[in-house]
Amino acid sequence: MAQGSEVQRGLEDVVALESRICFIDGKEGRLIYRGYDIRELAAHATFEEVAYLLWYGRLPTASQLAELRGRLASLRTIPPELARQLDALPADAPPMDVLRTAVSALAVFEPGETSPGPSSIGGAQRLTAALPTILGTYHRRRAHLPPLEARPELSHAAYLAYALLDRAPSELEARAIDVALILHADHDLNASTFAARVTASTLSDLYSAVTSAVGALKGPLHGGANERVLDLLDEIGELERADEVVRGKLARHERIMGFGHRVYKVEDPRATILREWSRKIGESKGDLRYYRLLQRVVEVVHREKGLYPNIDLYSGSVYALIGIPRDLFTPVFAASRVVGWTAHVLEEYDDLRLIRPRSQYVGPTDLSWTPIGDRK
Ligand code: CMC
Repeated sequence: MAQGSEVQRGLEDVVALESRICFIDGKEGRLIYRGYDIRELAAHATFEEVAYLLWYGRLPTASQLAELRGRLASLRTIPPELARQLDALPADAPPMDVLRTAVSALAVFEPGETSPGPSSIGGAQRLTAALPTILGTYHRRRAHLPPLEARPELSHAAYLAYALLDRAPSELEARAIDVALILHADHDLNASTFAARVTASTLSDLYSAVTSAVGALKGPLHGGANERVLDLLDEIGELERADEVVRGKLARHERIMGFGHRVYKVEDPRATILREWSRKIGESKGDLRYYRLLQRVVEVVHREKGLYPNIDLYSGSVYALIGIPRDLFTPVFAASRVVGWTAHVLEEYDDLRLIRPRSQYVGPTDLSWTPIGDRK
């Protein structure tokens, strides 16, 4: 950007590159993966099918899907060196820090997977398969649960849930996680995907790109919002207190997590789908407390600020009712978005252009050197 050009703070509405992966229509509230509406995918597809679609650009045939499922299941086991490293981390380390460390470490233990280019699809699948095991290995130690088994008969979603619980999930729970994974799998140039693409655009490797992405996802304005929605529900406690708590926060100019979006100007279509799952899972557990509280918060936030829910509003209630610990909500997001990150990294390698924007320099340019003894 030349000096004097207008600055787009937060790169808002800046179109940085062409992509064939994901389209968001923020005015109509539509989300498309590789041409398919998210509502159709959430109704009919499995996470593995969506992963195939995002990586290869088309829906798989039955045999291609079976092959991918088999491959992901066979890649679940992590190297013993990495398991030992996870054991050595403090039991109270934030799980996103553990994930970031583990993704980076996996590249060191399996250096063959890391060369940039089309062969990085191997690393993409390895990472996708390994993330639930990394999270489960870490979580089961701190929660004193029995060690993880590979369970190749479980779908990716069911394995992820099993890794984080002390049991395999029910069919309904596994499908709820499957849908949540589908909905989180990609979202155009969101902050973490952009971080991944920036790293890949230097011709760095896929694992470095995903490490950058995990760090970006961790923040509360991005993936970290889902955990904080449940903190808010705890703070509200009773339905009657929703108005008072939310209005108090807004009066103090605090953000209400799970609302607003840089691109959607209407309700996030992913939130619409997950709201139904929040209700379904609540009904199956005979516990609609979260669902009712969320609905009340939606009413108040819309009335007071005109903001709509985003995906993070409902995901936490689904995970919490299934029994997934709150500090693992954002890692579960990562376990899905890794597919989007890696699809974008592959696309970047295919049409590489170093991503290197400019800043508008607003500091001084005419200072004179002051010897150290003369400085105040
Ligand atoms: N609560 C209260 N006020 C809000 C919120 C919110 N959640 N979101 C936006 N606003 C207000 C904001 O204060 C500002 O008001 P004013 O003009 O009076 O100062 C106005 O809306 C515009 O906000 P902005 O920060 O310029 O909008 P943005 O495009 O930068 O924000 C956002 C997008 C997601 C960072 C923001 O909506 C937010 O902080 N939401 C809460 C965090 C959250 O739920 N994040 C998950 C996003 S979806 C999943 C993901 O991508 O990870």
